Amino acid sequence: MPQKRTHTCGELTAQNIGAEVVLSGWVNSIRNLGGLVFADLRDRTGLTQVVINPGDSPELAESAKDVREEWVLTIRGTVGARPGNTVNADMPTGEIEVAVTAFDVDNRAKPMPFHLDDPLVNEDLRLKYRYLDMRRSSILGNLTLRHRLTKSVRDYFDKHGFIEVETPILSKSTPEGARDYLIPSRVHHGKFFALPQAPQQYKQLLMVGGVERYFQIARCFRDEDLRADRQPEFTQIDVEMSFIDQEDIIAMIEGMLASVLKEVKDLEVALPFPRLTYAEAMDRYGSDKPDTRFGMELRDLTDGLTESGFRVFQNVIAAGGAIKAICARTLAGTPKRQIDAWTEIAKQFGAKGLATLKVDEDGMIAGQIAKFLSDDEKALISQRTSAEAGDLILIVADARTTANEVLGRLRLAIAAEQNLLSPDKHNFLWVVDFPLFEQDEDGNNSPMHHPFTSPLDEDLELLVTDPPAARAKAYDVVLNGVELGGGSIRIHQPDVQERMFGALGMEEKEAYARFGHLLDALAFGAPPHGGIALGLDRFAMLLAGAPSIRDVIAFPKTTKAACLMTDSPSAADSEQLEELAIASIPSEE
Ligand code: AMO
Ligand code: AMP
Repeated sequence: MPQKRTHTCGELTAQNIGAEVVLSGWVNSIRNLGGLVFADLRDRTGLTQVVINPGDSPELAESAKDVREEWVLTIRGTVGARPGNTVNADMPTGEIEVAVTAFDVDNRAKPMPFHLDDPLVNEDLRLKYRYLDMRRSSILGNLTLRHRLTKSVRDYFDKHGFIEVETPILSKSTPEGARDYLIPSRVHHGKFFALPQAPQQYKQLLMVGGVERYFQIARCFRDEDLRADRQPEFTQIDVEMSFIDQEDIIAMIEGMLASVLKEVKDLEVALPFPRLTYAEAMDRYGSDKPDTRFGMELRDLTDGLTESGFRVFQNVIAAGGAIKAICARTLAGTPKRQIDAWTEIAKQFGAKGLATLKVDEDGMIAGQIAKFLSDDEKALISQRTSAEAGDLILIVADARTTANEVLGRLRLAIAAEQNLLSPDKHNFLWVVDFPLFEQDEDGNNSPMHHPFTSPLDEDLELLVTDPPAARAKAYDVVLNGVELGGGSIRIHQPDVQERMFGALGMEEKEAYARFGHLLDALAFGAPPHGGIALGLDRFAMLLAGAPSIRDVIAFPKTTKAACLMTDSPSAADSEQLEELAIASIPSEE
């Protein structure tokens, strides 16, 4: 009898009073007050209070007695004003209620495994019943925001002459620094496709093919250790352009980010974004993704402490290391227990110790190591760190990279504790001039970005003479201390690409086996090109103010790379494995 809905549960207001309406939705809550049954009916758009009055229809009230939360109902009724004292100003539909004249039960629901409004539900339980969790307005809101974000990105690139091209999912291993997910071939026993870690090589091949301006909302797969901002399967805003330089990419992406923030959040972002070289970022923030929402920058004390009486400092300086410091404002009174906790963090990231100095009321520097410091040294320390009465100075002496990294981590930990990480700020910046290579302990080079990244023109010779010193035409865009995206100008000359593989210790044969298609393509008139990829999930997470990218993904994996809802990965049956010529080795557990 109630038929199809005439309105959503979010749209009825005082304007509709007197109208006969049909609503469908889930019973968000239901209560019986002296025979009157009140229910909040919920759909994607909101909640509407519906009332069944036994005075109007005793049978209706009787059948409503069985109705439980999360049942699906379609109701017919008349919109009426709520009595004055029951108006709810916090709800768009708070001025009205619908007096039910008939209802259908579209479906019943078992008792819920958790209450949708309970903020303390364990995440594993929520992930097992993700389709229920999704009924919470926060997850639905995040999915809606993500949709608007994606649409805004597509509109922007379309307007700027880009075309979206889909690239294969069954593909060949692409090195982006993680392990591949492999897909065994049934047709070619013993051979495997790899799921793409990124569409990197395909987008370069699209440039050789003349596409010139490519983008894709691209699914990527990486088998790596997961964290709050990492999933084994995630989405990139992937971009590649021909006949451009680094400045063109940076301007295009800044434009995109500003336009998305305007459209999705109605926020203005100042352009151009600030830029730091990688060396500056490490020196001042101890991170290649600096969070600039607060100060507490790293300062170098090394040259002022060469004559220091403190043996640790002497030894570090003699070994070519650095002494660096941060100044935590107003924290001179920090209890020892807290300083011990920070010392633990410092050690966890490789420091041998953490020295602290506090600045007294009268501006005097005090602390365990103060007795080893001359007055001049103390003056230099306060001046370099701009420390004032009541501040705490934290010092790490170590190899320069270690001192930077440790203080960078402490800086973030202290800022988090002090609530300095304002979610309302949107601090974008570029980090440029990355090193081309990273070195492992044995001194082997591996690409910092990927092996198709071009060196700076002036550093081309260093590929042969001094690879660790070579810098790349690579850039990262950072938002509030999160690496939002990274890209580079690519090598488009086959001889430079071969030299690059050489610097990576790859024989010609190996390079051809892995990347022959790309090397071949470069030899057929590849245009100068470059691009970038941004993490769409991370961007959505930051815009939603969510703590994890899982909150902006409909069906995320756990940090152990499993799906609790579908119970995958799961065992394959022996016939499937046989067809693939795969035998499974029983695990030790
Ligand atoms: P990169 O490896 O830096 O570059 O990745 C680009 C961006 O993708 C996001 N991202 C992730 N997001 C969620 N979970 C993950 N596991 C994950 N891994 C990466 C990050 C990162 O900044 N092909 C190159 C880009 C290029 O050179 O054009 C690439 O993939 O936000
Ligand atoms: P120790 O000589 O180990 O007793 O350390 C004396 C003080 O110096 C303590 O406050 C240590 O935490 C600190 N310290 C030790 N090593 C370092 C280091 N590499 N950098 C900064 N402070 C250190």
